[in-house]
Amino acid sequence: MRLNEEQQKILDGKKGRILQSAMMDLVKYGTAVGAEEFVPITSAHNAFQFMGRVARCFPPRGRLLTEKDIDKFSEEIAVARVKVKTTVNPAIMDLRKWRQMGADKSIYDSVMRTVEIARKCGIMANYNCIPYLTDNIPLMGDHISWAETSACLYANSFLGARSNRDSVEISLFSALLGITPNFGMHLDENRKGTDLIDVQCELENTSDWGALGHFTGERVGVGIPVFIDLRRPSVEEAVQLAAATNSSGGGGVPLLFIPGVSPEAPTVEAAFNGDKPRKTYVFDEAAKRAIYQKLNCNPEGKVDMVNLGCPHLTLHEIKELSRMLEGKRVAKGTKLWLQTTSSFRALAEQLGYAQIIEATGAKLFADACLYNWYVNTPVKRTKMNRVATDSVKNAFGARRSFHSNIFFGNTERCIDIAIKGGV
Ligand code: F3S
Repeated sequence: MRLNEEQQKILDGKKGRILQSAMMDLVKYGTAVGAEEFVPITSAHNAFQFMGRVARCFPPRGRLLTEKDIDKFSEEIAVARVKVKTTVNPAIMDLRKWRQMGADKSIYDSVMRTVEIARKCGIMANYNCIPYLTDNIPLMGDHISWAETSACLYANSFLGARSNRDSVEISLFSALLGITPNFGMHLDENRKGTDLIDVQCELENTSDWGALGHFTGERVGVGIPVFIDLRRPSVEEAVQLAAATNSSGGGGVPLLFIPGVSPEAPTVEAAFNGDKPRKTYVFDEAAKRAIYQKLNCNPEGKVDMVNLGCPHLTLHEIKELSRMLEGKRVAKGTKLWLQTTSSFRALAEQLGYAQIIEATGAKLFADACLYNWYVNTPVKRTKMNRVATDSVKNAFGARRSFHSNIFFGNTERCIDIAIKGGV
């Protein structure tokens, strides 16, 4: 890769060990993917949860780090500081209501220590997965380095920003240096459609948009789908489409085009930029039904938890949920957890939505991701084995990673289950 004078100095170690290590890895990565140079970025979004895990992105790798190693590393990275606006994906717990989630005090202390280092480092530890609607909103044409799969796809497709599906490590190195290898979605020539998705059924709610996303991600594999005969989505529907497309296990969709909605694709022709689709897939009623059947392995029976808010709920969704829940009561023995951002929860409290929701016995949590909570919390998973959700990403992830007994259905159906305590 071609480096400018400043980049070479960093590589030579003249700006400290942390930046040198970040530069060495970005150069190795860029070389492996055929990038010839770096491109300046305006923002990053990654994970910054525990200092031990962050430290493992830097040398010495391959050996257990002592507390002393981690303390030294924390001091060094705080001095290195990020060069661009940097936000963070959800944590494992609500930083205010962590006890209500059943989280462990030692894990809470560990996360809070990391929050403090993030602050010193210039990172805004906002812990949400919809930064493009809250604290990190790129403009069309901005080069960014984002690690969250759903956020990256949304930013590329609906804002016209430019990010590869970067790993947590690459995104952190890019944030520290303010640059990233110039390849893939950063280049004009790669931002064009590969496959056509012909939508021949009605999409009635956000879960249907998720089903379309799952179908698309599975079929296209690695590629850029272009949709036809698809109505304009609401922001919340676009969020579910992006989240489900990129978490289908299909391989990787960094960008999708809805002609007339995606800023770079006013028409189908513009979306393909002169190319012909390599394949056309039809999404009809039967295909939609098949996705619901595939993701639904708890068609009957008791439910331990109903989880809504994957990706995090918008203020509009919280308002709608408060309307649906008002005056009702969550069934004994069933939890109803709603996940959102701290900023939207603060507004929901100010506007009275949170109080209506919590009066039913439901919990409105912020900062957290149920997936991360499952992985990191010493609560026996068997207590929460039967989960209902309206999110395809949540349903697919929980089934694949934890073999949970999942009910997948639309939001109204999930609320009904929470009130009745079962399907
Ligand atoms: Fe967000 Fe976690 Fe879902 S990061 S998209 S709530 S799996």
